[in-house]
Amino acid sequence: MTLVVNIIGAGILGQTIGHLLVKNKLAQIAGVHNRSAESSLAAIKFIGDGEYFSEIKLLPQADITFITVPDDHICKTSIEIARHGNIKPGSIFIHCSGVLTSDVISAVKVKDAFVASIHPMKGFANPTSSVTTYKGTYCGMEGDPEALSILEPIFKSIGSITFLLNKEKKSLYHAAAVFASNYTVTLSQQALNCFKESGVEEGMALNIIISLMKGAIANIENSMSPSKALTGPIKRGDSSTIKNHLSAFTDCKQRALYSILGQASIPLTSHDSATKTQLEAELSFTK
Ligand SMILES: NC(=O)c1ccc[n+]([C@@H]2O[C@H](COP(=O)([O-])OP(=O)(O)OC[C@H]3O[C@@H](n4cnc5c(N)ncnc54)[C@H](OP(=O)(O)O)[C@@H]3O)[C@@H](O)[C@H]2O)c1
Repeated sequence: MTLVVNIIGAGILGQTIGHLLVKNKLAQIAGVHNRSAESSLAAIKFIGDGEYFSEIKLLPQADITFITVPDDHICKTSIEIARHGNIKPGSIFIHCSGVLTSDVISAVKVKDAFVASIHPMKGFANPTSSVTTYKGTYCGMEGDPEALSILEPIFKSIGSITFLLNKEKKSLYHAAAVFASNYTVTLSQQALNCFKESGVEEGMALNIIISLMKGAIANIENSMSPSKALTGPIKRGDSSTIKNHLSAFTDCKQRALYSILGQASIPLTSHDSATKTQLEAELSFTK
């Protein structure tokens, strides 16, 4: 039996998932609804299936409805679906936010529907590149078991690596992704600032940063352990180098960030408690 899918909010993610569903012959796309007709029609062209509906109440019934609108619009979209939508009893509604839980679309459950949230843990810049790089994307999921039992095999079939999330801890899960992805980029800017201030030319500095970051990631990958991958002055217990760095910073925010990250690095080492205390004191935020 071919599953019938609607997509409300066929933007970068909605188009990516829609295209992969069609390409892998996993579903038939019935209705697509974006705010504008123009973007809906462009999305349908990219997905390769579907028909544009200008209002939620006009969408045909579907087995699965993707609510892939921006996070701020997910809840109110589900309320509109509950009030005016043509909900098929027993059907599934899914959103893909990394921080909101499936509860945010629970309004649709008044009509015997099931809800889930499946978050592809990857930054998608545009649908064309996303469909080619999607394979191997980790997807944290939570929601009604009736929904997940249908959705998980579908997500696996398009190349996702799925895992269950604790709904109550979803914010922490999302914060983890921010640390691993976004803040790595922020750290690259901090390193660039230091390199430039030290006189290293920007292009050269960026190449060095990329090389160092790749090396650090390779160390994590090879050891599968942040503590085994750590190198540098904290790992060596080299207080004089740390003192030297702290006195070189001209920006107090940079000094504070270095100190906080240094403190967070101490538990990754196997120094004795006296050395750890000395490092803590050296990196004390109030110094
Ligand atoms: N992009 C990523 O890297 C990524 C990764 C993981 C998860 N997600 C999640 O995926 C979801 C969608 O993100 P996205 O990046 O695909 O967003 P996006 O590219 O901005 O697309 C959002 C789409 O929703 C439509 N839309 C906005 N408000 C609407 C409304 N009130 N009713 C109907 N359609 C509406 C927009 O239509 P118009 O074109 O007409 O404005 C647009 O097509 C979010 O929950 C996000 O957290 C995104």
